[in-house]
Amino acid sequence: MKALILSGGKGTRLRPITHTSAKQLIPVANKPILFYAIEAIRDAGITDIGIIVGDTAAEVKAAVADGARFGVQVTYLYQEEPLGLAHAVLIAKEFLGDEPFVMYLGDNLVKGGISNLVEQFKQRSPNSQILLARVRDPGQFGVAELRDATVVRLEEKPAHPRSDLALVGVYMFDKNIHAAVRAIRPSKRGELEITDAIQWLIDSGLKVLPHIVTGWWKDTGRLEDMLEANRMMLDTYETDVQGDVDEHSRVEFKVVVEKGAVIRHSTIRGPAAIGSGARITNSYIGPFTSISAGTQVINSEIEHSIILENCLIEDVGIKIEDSLIGRNAEVKKLNEKPRVYRLLLGDNSKVGLP
Ligand code: DAU
Repeated sequence: MKALILSGGKGTRLRPITHTSAKQLIPVANKPILFYAIEAIRDAGITDIGIIVGDTAAEVKAAVADGARFGVQVTYLYQEEPLGLAHAVLIAKEFLGDEPFVMYLGDNLVKGGISNLVEQFKQRSPNSQILLARVRDPGQFGVAELRDATVVRLEEKPAHPRSDLALVGVYMFDKNIHAAVRAIRPSKRGELEITDAIQWLIDSGLKVLPHIVTGWWKDTGRLEDMLEANRMMLDTYETDVQGDVDEHSRVEFKVVVEKGAVIRHSTIRGPAAIGSGARITNSYIGPFTSISAGTQVINSEIEHSIILENCLIEDVGIKIEDSLIGRNAEVKKLNEKPRVYRLLLGDNSKVGLP
């Protein structure tokens, strides 16, 4: 079996972070989301992985390289434009050949991996196996309608969803999907939808088996989903302090401090992760916060947030909460008169003031 990970696309809902970098590389608990997908696939015994890349190809390649550090072999497949999930399958045909494969959306996180699901697919050997999860807002997803535990109808982001069963971004296919992606036409949003391709399989009398996911799953497309994913992943970690914590600091409950991180006169209350080379001075890092490598926090308080690499957060008088701060960003008090806000914000940035 092979695997196809989709790591192209535009990530419009996470701008401005995704103006400059791949949404699949935003870290959750200080590890890029994409790495969780690669590890889940590897743990299911699949080592031949194709990764669909687009505008952010260079960044994805720099992070994953040939896959050796994960124990897998990666082939990059360049998609010139994000023309849809089924379009990604279309351009991956040569890589996939006629082998069955797992397709994994690079911005999805499935807790507990996919080993059982892959095993189930091999045993039941349908033409496709799809994962479904009950959600509160089905209109944001592909939605499945089941009758007697078989899939009868799938619709992509319907205005009037017929059920609360959303398609999770992990799919298993045999070679019939290639005929399906060739047969369908672009949807109203101009994409070749994998949802329509699976509907084509159903309409052609092929076997599409549903598997309802009861565990935790997240499409990390929006800020609140990203923060929830971060919360969930941090909560699974145990305390592991490799960095340098002075005697004036307190590290409480499920805190990971990576080697090379320095904590001075501060309190870190987990679940939280502090990346290598980060420096926390006179500060409070509260629950569900990830501070990435090389970031400095001085005289400030942060909770329930993700701060990416090499930021400077200094003398911020009020606690920073529910925030996602991109690489190399600076948030600091100006010691000048008159007191002013001085902002240099990327397009689509959001600032919440007290
Ligand atoms: O997350 C589950 C949902 O994913 C499903 O319920 C939907 O049926 C499915 O269409 C998909 O919806 P999204 O609108 O969330 O897909 P998105 O455009 O965010 O793309 C998913 C991933 O695939 C993301 O990592 C970007 C990548 N991608 C996307 C497109 C459209 C590509 O690599 N190439 C593409 O052409």
